[in-house]
Amino acid sequence: MILPKACIFDLDGVIVDTVPAHYIAWKSIADELNIPFTEQDNEQLKGVSRVDSMKRILAIGNLEKSDEEIEALTTRKNDRYVEIISKMTPADILPGVREFLHVLAKAGLKVALGSSSKNAPTILKAVGLSDLFQVKVDGNHISHSKPHPEVFLLGADRLGLHPSECVVFEDAISGVQAAKRGGFPCVGVGLPELLHEADLVVPDLKDADLTIFKRLPSFA
Ligand code: BG6
Ligand code: MG
Repeated sequence: MILPKACIFDLDGVIVDTVPAHYIAWKSIADELNIPFTEQDNEQLKGVSRVDSMKRILAIGNLEKSDEEIEALTTRKNDRYVEIISKMTPADILPGVREFLHVLAKAGLKVALGSSSKNAPTILKAVGLSDLFQVKVDGNHISHSKPHPEVFLLGADRLGLHPSECVVFEDAISGVQAAKRGGFPCVGVGLPELLHEADLVVPDLKDADLTIFKRLPSFA
């Protein structure tokens, strides 16, 4: 079987289910601003940085804010988000993820993180997965949010690998686009109708093992 040399995982929605927490925190800010904000809108924010998410929400409400106001709003959103995620424990790891990470390590594959979140170090620590990642790239290290491929390209670079030797796991439309723009084979985790740009879409990582790579054109 031909295997990739590494896997690069998104965090929110792939490793841990923080999507509802992001939604609740954004929704409270949108409500204060009288902006209608739905779970469907939230889908478009997956993978998008905090500031860019705020700007997209303001655009829904046709509102304009100064950089200082945006800074204050995003700080408030993050305070609410951090309050929710501060209660996270290893029980919040999505089904199959820990087992899959161990399967990859046993097979000699490297594992990296490619997340837009500045809270990634806190979350990985809280769920006890920090040590399983050889390389961690998150929102603190990048200047371009997904769908820009920077986060994954930096990850591949730090792994010392070419994008074609890595497989990206992503739940966000913008994340799948980032992976494909960077030249990475990509497994979408979620709904095929949303993630159709991925090379393969699986509903979750429950029971995921090395046979997943055979389903990708570049490793078949
Ligand atoms: C991504 C999430 O992983 O991180 C987005 O999918 C979020 O919803 C982004 O906006 C930035 O996260 P944070 O934790 O830095 O606000
Ligand atoms: Mg995600």
